[in-house]
Order: sequence, then C-alpha cells, then structure tokens
Amino acid sequence: MTHYFTDNWDNVQNFQAKPDDILIATYPKAGTTWVSHMLDLLYFGKSSPERAASLPIYDRVPFLEICVPSIPTGVELIGKMTTSPRLIKTHFPVQFVPKSFWEQKCRVFYVARNAKDNVVSYFHFDRMNSVQPESGDWPSYLQRFHQGKMAFGSWYDHVKGWWEKKQSYPNLLYLHYEDLAEDIDRELDRVCSFLGVRPTEEERRQVIGGVGFDAMKKNSMANYSTFEAMDFKISPFMRKGKVGDWKNHFTVYQNEMFDKEYQEKMRNTTLRFRTEI
Ligand code: A3P
Repeated sequence: MTHYFTDNWDNVQNFQAKPDDILIATYPKAGTTWVSHMLDLLYFGKSSPERAASLPIYDRVPFLEICVPSIPTGVELIGKMTTSPRLIKTHFPVQFVPKSFWEQKCRVFYVARNAKDNVVSYFHFDRMNSVQPESGDWPSYLQRFHQGKMAFGSWYDHVKGWWEKKQSYPNLLYLHYEDLAEDIDRELDRVCSFLGVRPTEEERRQVIGGVGFDAMKKNSMANYSTFEAMDFKISPFMRKGKVGDWKNHFTVYQNEMFDKEYQEKMRNTTLRFRTEI
C-alpha cells in the first residue's frame, strides 16, 4: 500500500455501507473504469443523463480508500451522495474491504484481467500518474510485479483472494476483462441478471454505445483528462484497451520467465485467464 490509500485508514475501515451499495473491486488497471461507467449508465443514464455528461467518473463512482491532499477523500465523497444505489470503487485486496459491506450483503463486482496485459497497463499508468510510485524501467517493473511490490500488492494474491471469496459470498460477480472485450452484450446481460435489473432495448443500446473504447476515450467525463495527477503526454489513461498488447512489450525471454513464475504462483487455484481472444 502507499500512504494515499492508507492515510484515511480508520474512516475507511469504519465505513458504514448501505444494503443497496454496489462495490466495484479490482486490481488496478483491470477494467475498473469500464465497469464503473457501465453500471453508472445502467442505473442513471436514462433517468439523469446530465449526470454522466457533467460529472467525471471519479465523482460518480468514488474511490473508497483514496486520500490525496486538496481533493475530498473517497469517504467524504460517498458520504455526500444522494442517489441510490451508491456505486463505490475499491482496489483493496479482499481482506481490507470494510466489514460493513459483507454485513449488509452488498452486491460486489470483481473485475480481473490477465496478468500480462494487467502489468503492461499498470506500467504505463505508473509512468504517467504522480500519485503512483515511480515505474522505473520495464525489466525492473516486471520483477517487482512478481515480487508483489506494487501499490495494492501482489496481483496473484489479489485475484486469488477475491476468487476464494466468491466461493462463500453469493453476492459477488467475478468478471474478466477478456470476456468484456470479447462480447460486451453477453456480459451486460450477466451484469443485469446479477443485479436483477431489466433495461429496455433503448437503454441497453445507450449503455453499450457509451462503454465502447472509442466512446470512452473521447468522453472527458470517463477518460480522466480532468484529473490533474495524470500526464497524458506520457501516456493517456484510455491507452489501447486491447487483449494481447503484452506481446508488444515482452521479450521472448521475459515471456518464458513470466510463464514459469505464473505457473508456480497459480498452481493452487482453479482460476483461469486468457491472454488472447
Ligand atoms: P490499457 O492501458 O491496456 O489501455 P482501470 O480502469 O482499471 O484503471 O483500467 C484501465 C485499462 O482499461 C486501460 O487499459 C484502459 O484502456 C482499459 N479500458 C478502459 N475502458 C475500456 C473500454 N471501454 N474498452 C476496453 N478497454 C478499456
């Protein structure tokens, strides 16, 4: 963890969830913004279109644990929300989630992305975001990824921890970035049936149209261009949005080493990922 995500620890841990709160949990760069924008459009796109047109994604779906000087904390932002359900984002590994979410039996989405694309996306994010630790060069970044020395810790522990939680907590839907990329209509149907919502055909079309990569990249309320800590000249937030971009970054040797580490660390789980579709 870095201090921006631990400075408000007690307030975060004592956070009182409401039963209809919806938590969107991810390891950073796994598709948080994609699913956040999707859920926001699903619930509010029709009833209050001005919301998505005027509020950046980080205000519509506050980041629970964030505590950065000169902007409201995540807990403060959530406290001021008057709409329901409240959509809340977290990057916490499962064991750090405030217990009221479980007590209130809140619906929870977990979005996971294959490790290779996830680490590439995280590398570019750490290069461009002053709130994140320095990225260093790519080879050393890959090493740190395996050691779990990243903000929010080990990708392996994160995806596996949440996968285990899913086995005992039925209100958790575990989504994969690759599935969203492969067939967004199908995934939207899964999301709707999990939530028990029935959008009209027009509402569905509006959501699907709004969450396309190009639409989100152009949309200043979804693409983080209004967030000061990010330098888009180094790398845009909506960077490529592809499955398989890792092939443009890994050398053959790095790929072999990665596969070795991966097999070892994923030995004890039934969780599977696709690195291409
Ligand atoms: P890339 O860096 O690979 O482009 P997060 O929201 O968790 O920070 O994840 C950001 C990653 O999700 C970025 O990946 C971004 O481009 C991708 N992403 C965001 N919206 C997307 C969309 N609508 N379709 C595909 N990828 C999307």
